[in-house]
Amino acid sequence: MQPEFKPRILGFLCNWCSYAGADLAGVSRYQYPPGIKVIRLMCSGRVDLEFVLRALANGNDGVFVGGCWLGECHYITEGNYDALSMMHLGKKLLERIGANPERLRLEWVSASQGLRFAEVVSDFTNRLKELGPQNVSKLKLEAIRKLLPYIKLVEREKLRVRFESKGEYEKFFASEAVNRLVDELIADKLAVSQIMVLLGTQALSPGEIADTLGMAPSEVAKHLKSSARQRLVRFDVEQKRYALA
Ligand code: FES
Repeated sequence: MQPEFKPRILGFLCNWCSYAGADLAGVSRYQYPPGIKVIRLMCSGRVDLEFVLRALANGNDGVFVGGCWLGECHYITEGNYDALSMMHLGKKLLERIGANPERLRLEWVSASQGLRFAEVVSDFTNRLKELGPQNVSKLKLEAIRKLLPYIKLVEREKLRVRFESKGEYEKFFASEAVNRLVDELIADKLAVSQIMVLLGTQALSPGEIADTLGMAPSEVAKHLKSSARQRLVRFDVEQKRYALA
């Protein structure tokens, strides 16, 4: 008999609301699955996409972010609005590397909502059980992680928005314009980044790269050509393989 799958979750909780809510859940002895490990941050706005990708690369099946309700963040910068943007963008990036976006969840939990904390963690755990273990390769997670400085730059310029409600964020990030922008932003760069990470481990022929990454040979050839022009990779004529320059 297969052992029961118990999802591993890394939780980032803001000190003033969600962490206090988790504490209250414990003191009140509300039951919730023990698979969540918690990191306390001062504000949910401190959660960076880098944390999310690292958590998944380190074997967690899901990432939970808990913050104060909108309008109740304890800082004048109101970091929970930034957390909302981060979460939506993070979900899009996860989708682009083949991970289910539901592996990232953001919830508001106030200091007095111990029961709510137990409920949302239980619900998230059950959803992860349905999804099964996180199985996106470390290579893909590493490739998208390497693009983060660039993605954040563009996010600051084009996706830094401020709405008043969760619904407005959902509508904005679901819009065709934003999807197109994200696709244009990362499609080619993600492919190149994956090739670079792969070649960082060993020299490979174009065919081997295409097989390993599940890309069309013509696409691999296109990216290798442009990367060679930029002196990111070099071709070893004797071995007939590409390596990092
Ligand atoms: Fe809780 Fe900012 S202090 S979200």
